[in-house]
Amino acid sequence: MSDRVLVIVPTYNEAENLGQILERLQASVPEAHALVVDDGSPDGTGDLAEAVAARDERVHVLRRTAKNGLGAAYIAGFRWARERGYDVVVEMDADGSHAPEQLPRLLAALGDADLVLGSRYVPGGEVTDWPAHRLLLSRAGNRYTRWALRLPLNDATGGYRAARAALIDRLPFDDVASQGYCFQVDWAWRAVRAGARVAEVPITFTERTFGRSKMSGSIVGEALVRVTVWGVRDRLADWLPGRVTRPVPARVR
Ligand code: GDD
Ligand code: MN
Repeated sequence: MSDRVLVIVPTYNEAENLGQILERLQASVPEAHALVVDDGSPDGTGDLAEAVAARDERVHVLRRTAKNGLGAAYIAGFRWARERGYDVVVEMDADGSHAPEQLPRLLAALGDADLVLGSRYVPGGEVTDWPAHRLLLSRAGNRYTRWALRLPLNDATGGYRAARAALIDRLPFDDVASQGYCFQVDWAWRAVRAGARVAEVPITFTERTFGRSKMSGSIVGEALVRVTVWGVRDRLADWLPGRVTRPVPARVR
């Protein structure tokens, strides 16, 4: 593939994981570049990323001063990628949950898609070692999202994705308010509504070995409230056309 690929890796306190994920990425897709977007991790992840970047020209670092959430980190990363002319932008967690060994599968699917979602919930996809309550939260969250937003996706909340940069250019990210993980739902929905070709390919999600998840009650709360408000507004726009604007532009139906 001659496309220039940038893998954005958001980090907050991932010093124990970062070195390994970058090595695995380079073993799997040697020509890909990586951009670590660190939100001022107190554990020194940012310095570690700089050290790797100093000896490897494929690794870049974007340092932000405060923990501003996953959505804001990705939007900054997307902008960075577009300013530098990358053709393909990938989202990947730093903690090893998203196997770099499966990235070629996502990239291959971009052949006839604008956005490829690594999906835990299509045949062949799996979550290997989540506790029952976390799996339930994720599955219920995805079912609710699918119903509330009429979004024909099985894993709209996942964070392992590959997108054509041209799609990112077409979507208005400036007005994205989602701070936490609901950014993933937000922009998957925008992509579908914009008429993008969205594909889901199975992935194996493995829980992290080191460090802790940053998932929190407020992140879940933000997602629940936003998805509900969007869903209600979208239905109101069906019933009161012209009086209620859709949360994201609808494709001509
Ligand atoms: N820069 C930055 N800022 N990075 C962050 C922030 C933040 O505020 N919050 C989390 N991250 C980074 C983590 O360091 C990690 O690399 C990645 O984002 C995912 O965070 P985790 O805390 O490991 O998420 P998870 O495993 O609980 O959640 C997974 O499932 C979610 C829901 O299905 C992830 O794959 C999420 O992306 C996904 O939305
Ligand atoms: Mn994780």
